[in-house]
Amino acid sequence: MIVLGIETSCDETAAAIVSSEGDIIAETVLSQLEDHRPFGGVVPEVAARAHLEYVDVVVSKTMAKADLSFHELDAVAATGGPGLIGGVIVGIMTAKAIAASCNLPFLAINHMEGHALSARLSKAGKVPFPYLLLLISGGHCQLLNVKGCGKYKRLGTTIDDALGEAFDKTAKMLGIGYPGGPAVEAAAKKGNAARFALPRPMKGRPGCDFSFSGLKTAVRHIALELPEGPFLKTDIADLCAGFQVAAGDVLADRTNNALDIIISDHPCGNSLVVAGGVAANQFLRKRLQILANKRSVELIAPPISLCTDNGAMIAWAAIERIQDVGMSQAQDNLNFRPRPRWPLDPDAPKAAFAGIKA
Ligand code: KG4
Ligand code: ZN
Repeated sequence: MIVLGIETSCDETAAAIVSSEGDIIAETVLSQLEDHRPFGGVVPEVAARAHLEYVDVVVSKTMAKADLSFHELDAVAATGGPGLIGGVIVGIMTAKAIAASCNLPFLAINHMEGHALSARLSKAGKVPFPYLLLLISGGHCQLLNVKGCGKYKRLGTTIDDALGEAFDKTAKMLGIGYPGGPAVEAAAKKGNAARFALPRPMKGRPGCDFSFSGLKTAVRHIALELPEGPFLKTDIADLCAGFQVAAGDVLADRTNNALDIIISDHPCGNSLVVAGGVAANQFLRKRLQILANKRSVELIAPPISLCTDNGAMIAWAAIERIQDVGMSQAQDNLNFRPRPRWPLDPDAPKAAFAGIKA
């Protein structure tokens, strides 16, 4: 089976063709970085217009690389949400148009499900269900029990900001560029993490929820007290290192609580998967590896190209669904409506600590 996946929910216009054997036959990721850089962050309207301009080129280029025509595909999938709605509409309409004109099945994929299943996209063999997923991206920070394809139980979520958002704002406050995550990681390499006292929001509390707004505010207060003018390189490095260590401590603490729940429910489920754009961070991966070693679970992190937004994870999530329930049940109607919000676990209770500021 060969599926085309299209991803347009944020600031990457991406497409990929993936086989049911887990082979990424061809892929293209066009970053809109330069379109958004002047604004220091993703501007939804700019993103939507850029997706509209780039999506045809990205899809055609991917088809050409694979040397395939649309008629040779088994299905077309696109991110149906959650995400910036203008971009999602562009991707969904493109997939619908290809599906309608070539009489192919169309699938709308939850963007978070794409991230959740990306660790199973491997020719080397799939990570078995169930596993604990730590999904850390620009828009989400969640711990999920991935019981099977389409079977997700949310154990915790952020009560305010996503971790990627905190990375991006930290970089913006320090004037070190956009996107913030890679900039903070690079700056932190030479920093002294112990110099500034930063909070570890939610650490030590029961449950698996997160909070990052207090950490972001603490960075702001420290930055405001630094000497005026362009920040010194050492100040930036120390603050980034302190921020990253605090974020790592919080992730490890909350994930440790989630492992308690998963291991008591499924003594055999012994994998911890970390996915989403922030999972590209090598320091945080090492921090989670320490936790995994301590808890005797295997840490699985997809390759960095699969951590940040991409079309392959969308095509793969479609393949998983088709394999799980069969094509006729897996496909969506062409009147599917793009969704700005689309919880992976619709039954999840509200964050237990909602309203409490760290
Ligand atoms: O999953 P993703 O590509 O898009 C969303 O669905 O949000 O994640 C983007 C986020 C951004 O906040 C970006 O700064 C962050 O992932 N990110 C990183 C790193 N690379 C990307 N954060 C920390 N360290 C990195 N190396
Ligand atoms: Zn994402």
